[in-house]
Amino acid sequence: MSEKLFDDLNTFNHLAKEIILDCNKKGISKKVKPTDLLKKFGIELNNSGISDNHLKEILKEIALHTPKTSGKLFFNQLFGGVNSKAVLGDLLAVLLNNSMATYKIAGPMVELEREILRKVAHLISYPNTFGGTMPTGGSMSNFMALVVARDKKRPKTIQDGNTDRLVFYTSENSHYSIGKNASFCGIGRDNVRYIDTNEKGEMISEKLSHTIQSDIKNGFIPFFVNATLGTTVMGATDPINKIHKICKNHNIWLHVDGAFAGSVIFSKKHKHLIKGIQHSDSFCFNPHKTLGTPLSTSVFLVKNKKDLYNSFSHKADYLYQTDDNDYNLGQFSFECGRRNNALKFWTLWKSFGTEGISEMVDQNYILASFARDYIRSNSNYTLYSFEGSLSICFNYKNIDPKLLCTELYNNNKLMVGYGKHKENEFVRLVSINRENTKEDILNFFKVLEEFTENNL
Ligand SMILES: Cc1ncc(COP(=O)(O)O)c(C=O)c1O
Repeated sequence: MSEKLFDDLNTFNHLAKEIILDCNKKGISKKVKPTDLLKKFGIELNNSGISDNHLKEILKEIALHTPKTSGKLFFNQLFGGVNSKAVLGDLLAVLLNNSMATYKIAGPMVELEREILRKVAHLISYPNTFGGTMPTGGSMSNFMALVVARDKKRPKTIQDGNTDRLVFYTSENSHYSIGKNASFCGIGRDNVRYIDTNEKGEMISEKLSHTIQSDIKNGFIPFFVNATLGTTVMGATDPINKIHKICKNHNIWLHVDGAFAGSVIFSKKHKHLIKGIQHSDSFCFNPHKTLGTPLSTSVFLVKNKKDLYNSFSHKADYLYQTDDNDYNLGQFSFECGRRNNALKFWTLWKSFGTEGISEMVDQNYILASFARDYIRSNSNYTLYSFEGSLSICFNYKNIDPKLLCTELYNNNKLMVGYGKHKENEFVRLVSINRENTKEDILNFFKVLEEFTENNL
């Protein structure tokens, strides 16, 4: 490694200090007009290079104006705040720069990933036949689940492509990756059936059953149902047990997309939310959403390792030259040069233990409940959320939620988004930053109320 790396790491440390102090002091970045960016920060790339000092100054300005997703005023996305131990692990992963394809190039990192998969499989009571990988996020995990289910139903697809009338099912509230993935794996977006949800946002299992039966009558081949554990807007959980029974009757693959709220598998208090998860054929969750590992960290498990291998293994003599396939993780993943996403999550898990992670998860639910109580106790608010959700959806004084969220952002006050369920549009506050306290939640409401008073 170049000795120059020491200088650049010193620069990194210096910048890191500035970023952390700025984040803690301001909690939000000043919005910059997108069309001003190129000139304002010297982003333009030129023929000649620049000095180290100049580069450092430019990096600092860009970093300080980048949205602070770890700030106490960021509630916009389903991630927020980073765990310092996970950051340590991820920085090491960058420095070591392995690809997780083979044991030869990743060494002990392979066993870190395998250990994570083993422990997650244990938490959801999968049998010893389980297999898994750590893809680039929830969308990719969902994609892999769809491919494995398709190949299980029609193994000839792997060689010949899909020529059957395959259809699959997901709730109207599921993540958009489910619909998008349909085209990537040759099923087609018109062959996705969106099942109605109830007022909480949970899939209505009777509607699912009815739609499947009607499809079968019409000559379609149902092969996959996606049940969501924590829908993106409402944070609702589909009835996994009921859906499992329907899937079993029709020999359909059941995938549980826990990208958002799947970390609840660590919690003893909220175990009821994952009832029936052991019956699923595959499961994913994103530690980068609720546990504070840097983007992206996703864990994808299948009940039967053979299914994952059948879909994702391929001959490549130039790559797989040593060791057992069980340790050559590229035979179970989409990518070849796959980033080491295991180390950051392993570092966090090793440092805090399963019990420590369980406390983090419970803290998210405590704060969600606290926020709902605040809203219920104040007549200026209307609440749309239910118990057991990490999304707190509400309106304030009947103000248009789009206007409110956009103005809060444009005026550098808060970052929070809006969503829709049925005919209601609302602000969506999310409780996912486990470093937040009740004071931070109260401050969120205070900033919103004061801004509204003075500006809307
Ligand atoms: C329920 C659900 N599934 C999948 C995803 C996609 O995850 P990723 O952003 O890691 O691709 C999200 C993201 O918000 C989600 O809420």
